Amino acid sequence: MALEKFIVEGGKPLKGEVSASGSKNAALPILAATILAEGPCSLGNIPRLRDVDVLAHILQTVGVNVERDAQGRVVTRVTSETASVAPYELVSMMRASFCVLGPLLAKRGCAKVSLPGGCALGDRPVDLHLKGLRALGADIQIEHGYVIARAKKLRGANIYLGGPTGSSVLGTANVMMAAVLAEGQTIIEHAACEPEVVDLANFLIAMGASIEGAGSHRMRIRGVRTLEGCEYDVIPDRIEAATLLLAGAITRGQVVVKNTDPTHLEAVFDKFREAGINLTRNCKVVVAGMQDRPREVEISTLPYPGFPTDLQAQMMAFTCVGQGASVFTDAIYPDRLHHVAEFKRMGARIQRVNNTCVVIGRERLQGAPVMASDLRAGAALVLAGLAAEGETHVRRVYHIDRGYEDFEKKLISLGASIKRVEDDAPEKPPAV
Ligand code: EPU
Repeated sequence: MALEKFIVEGGKPLKGEVSASGSKNAALPILAATILAEGPCSLGNIPRLRDVDVLAHILQTVGVNVERDAQGRVVTRVTSETASVAPYELVSMMRASFCVLGPLLAKRGCAKVSLPGGCALGDRPVDLHLKGLRALGADIQIEHGYVIARAKKLRGANIYLGGPTGSSVLGTANVMMAAVLAEGQTIIEHAACEPEVVDLANFLIAMGASIEGAGSHRMRIRGVRTLEGCEYDVIPDRIEAATLLLAGAITRGQVVVKNTDPTHLEAVFDKFREAGINLTRNCKVVVAGMQDRPREVEISTLPYPGFPTDLQAQMMAFTCVGQGASVFTDAIYPDRLHHVAEFKRMGARIQRVNNTCVVIGRERLQGAPVMASDLRAGAALVLAGLAAEGETHVRRVYHIDRGYEDFEKKLISLGASIKRVEDDAPEKPPAV
């Protein structure tokens, strides 16, 4: 399949209303959790994304039928429990697929799931996932790049899941999905508090699980014998909502994002206000407007409720056209800074030392050919392009398609000029 790129024509203030889609990072573990259900599950607000398609494919290979109905809801049904293997070819495409491990083990007593390996964000270990599952009594071996997990019966345990940079979102999800069917009580200390973890807990509760404390660092899970299918609607995507608000602000326009949950974005809104964005909000709608260049900010990414690493690149794009010096530290993924070199190609002034970057804002960026290294970096390059003079060609758009539903269509509806075209630049050097 030919690669695609975006051609972004900068300089147009974005104005209007858009709706946030369902949360990618809530939808993925919730889809994995349907492995646990005895009956069908009907899920609303599942975004149409490449990552969701990859997970649906993995679910099919382990015997879960996944379909979208006429209303757009995703309906899942377990049709066979004989195959419990998630192959490298699929897991390596998307790390989140590793979270089929917990539910496969809990429901079927065994699972073989490929180790995901590193990615553009750096070396992303899974030791906390395995530590938690071992504590529940699983026998876990690593063989030829695969995690092979077995347990006749999982038993509840006290598990400390803190890692070197705090909690783990998918680690908490994997252990929670195994503990819901374990015998007895599990306490997860230093659990991740992200809204996506709370959404997964609420889905499991809707299926019949007993979970207390989701959203805090201490979760108590009492194992049950079976979980039923249920109907559930996934929360809105907070990262997408904030990215769209920044698209308005970086172009000195005004954007309204509907169907969102502003309470999931307190740390982000705090920095938006500090940077000079005018914000108004009610329970499901946020309006962000901007007239001047952004003011300088200092941001360190942290687990929720701190400033999310998934918005670091987009916020950095914004400060590239700001006043003064802004400072960014990615404490979660020290290597998640590939966009820095691309912003520099657009004229940005950025100094990087280890995982900290100082951005000296300038009046304008210049359009340039640039390359997305992951989905958030890709979105950030589009934002930079919207604020730049001339054309920006953002290559490797497939990264953006992994995690933003209808990204360019939403931006075009706000007045952006973006074209999706086939990328005819060679990916490999020609043979000599
Ligand atoms: N970590 C460990 N050991 C582990 C697991 C994680 O040391 O076993 C470390 C990581 O290296 C990292 C930190 O813990 O430094 C946090 O990683 P976490 O496990 O929370 O990340 P994740 O669950 O693999 C999810 C999101 C990411 C998001 C991170 C952090 C999904 C599908 N992915 O990943 O989202 O950046 O949490 O909030 O939920 C994205 O959407 O663009 C994205 C990358």
